[in-house]
This record gives sequence, structure tokens and C-alpha cells, in this order.
Amino acid sequence: MENLLLSVSHYEEEARRKLSQHDLGYFAFAAGARETMKENCEAFKRKNNHCLAQRFTKDAPRKLTELWRFRPRILKNVSRVDCSTEVIGSKIPFPICIAPTAFHRMCAPEGEFCTARAAESLGVGMAVSLWSNKTMEEIASEVPNCIKWCHVQFIKNRIVTEHFVRRAEQNGFKGFIVTIDEPVFRNRTHRYEDEKPLKFETSIVSIKFVEPEEPAFVAFTSWMDGSAEWDSIDWLKGITKLPVVIKRILTDKLWF
Ligand SMILES: Cc1cc2nc3c(=O)[nH]c(=O)nc-3n(C[C@H](O)[C@H](O)[C@H](O)COP(=O)(O)O)c2cc1C
Repeated sequence: MENLLLSVSHYEEEARRKLSQHDLGYFAFAAGARETMKENCEAFKRKNNHCLAQRFTKDAPRKLTELWRFRPRILKNVSRVDCSTEVIGSKIPFPICIAPTAFHRMCAPEGEFCTARAAESLGVGMAVSLWSNKTMEEIASEVPNCIKWCHVQFIKNRIVTEHFVRRAEQNGFKGFIVTIDEPVFRNRTHRYEDEKPLKFETSIVSIKFVEPEEPAFVAFTSWMDGSAEWDSIDWLKGITKLPVVIKRILTDKLWF
């Protein structure tokens, strides 16, 4: 019972205990100046809702407070609760899945196998990052019953992207999750507590034909296609029958 992790902060404490400062920095320190992460946390604290309210609504701090507080319904029969739902064609027992995140081997030697096993044991889905330490083939063979989606970022040479698509199809992946908010590789130096850049020496990315050493990784990042637009999504939909989901649409004004 001692090590039971009951809340997000318990997981954070555990990670602090287990990971080096460098690795913890990668996983825990969000992107950019951490503004979104801070705002997300603050949004659930009543005392800070005022500043959020000023930002998002004209004059309604109270309204926003209501918006962000959980209002439990009481005296409802909860003796039998069914949270199951369907996500990208797969039935899951509750509506939480694993977003694509890179480099799981920084947390555990078996990398994405651990995450996939966790997803499998709970019956939820896992989006396998393009920047994984295990290949799609390895994950599919080691954890065959995990519901897996393939993370896509467009590569300048579309043959390479198509190669990923075919491998995902052949390995039982159930769809594609396209990241659209990082068309080019970002400098992540600022993400680490010790301000040192991330080292990739432990990383074999999921791309079989890219060697694990850093120069090849850097080469791959330069292949990312910053010119991709909506027609790239049409192209992807045209080459596969599996569902294509766009990750990170934040507003319906995205068209402009
Ligand atoms: C350590 C880390 C690695 C990530 N790697 C990827 C990635 O490889 N591909 C991707 O599309 N998103 C990646 N993300 C972004 C997450 O999938 C997710 O969009 C982000 O954490 C924001 O989710 P939230 O708004 O629910 O907090 C990563 C995030 C973190 C913290």
C-alpha cells in the first residue's frame, strides 16, 4: 500500500525519485515557456480563475469559476457505472488513452513495451510516437493485444511517410494520429531544469532505417516537412483505409 500512487502529484513525486534530473526535465517540463501547462493547472484553482476570466471572457470571473469547477450530481444511483466508450473505432472501458510521447526508454529499459502493456492491461488505446525507442514491429509482436494508433508527422519525402503507414497497417495499428502543431523540429533546450540540451544517446527511434546515433537523428529531424498543409491530410486519407485523426486542433478558426 505504501507505494500506491493515487494522484498525479504522487506520480510526479515518484518520477522525481526515479529519474535523473535530465530525464525528469524532459518528461515533466512541458514545452515552450510552460504557459499552457501553468494555465491548465491554475484553471482548476478558484483563486486563479479571475486572471483566466479576464483573458477569456469580458466580465465573468464568477461564470468562469462555475465553468471550471466540478459540480457533482448527488443522490444518483452509482452502484453500477459504465464509463465505456468508443475511440477511433475501438471500444475502451473508460475515456482516457495514452497520447503520443517520445523516448519511453528514458523511464524504463523496456521503453514503450511497458506503456503498451499498461494500456493493454487496462484495455485502453496507446498512440505510439514516431519518436519511440521501440519499433512498431517490436511493440506489435511483444504486446499484440494493445489497441495501437500510429503517430504521424509529415516527412518531406512522402515515400518515407507512406512507409510508416504501410508498417502500421501490417502491424495491426488501428489508425493514425497526425501531429499538426510541430511542423518543424523545435529547440527544446529550455525544457530542462539543468538547461542542458537533451542527449539522444539512448534512443533508437521507431524508424528502422535511421541509425540510433545522434547525427542520423538530427538528419531525420531535418526531413520534417514544414510545408505540409491541409492537402497533406487528404493525401494521407487517400493512401489508407484506416481512420486519420488530427491531433491538436484547438479552434475552429484553424482554417484561416
Ligand atoms: C515528454 C513528452 C513527449 C511528447 N512527445 C510527443 C510526440 O512524440 N508526439 C506528439 O504528437 N506529441 C508529443 N507530446 C505531446 C503530448 O502528446 C500532448 O499533446 C501534450 O502533452 C499536451 O497534452 P495535454 O494538453 O493533455 O496536457 C509529448 C509530450 C510530452 C510531455
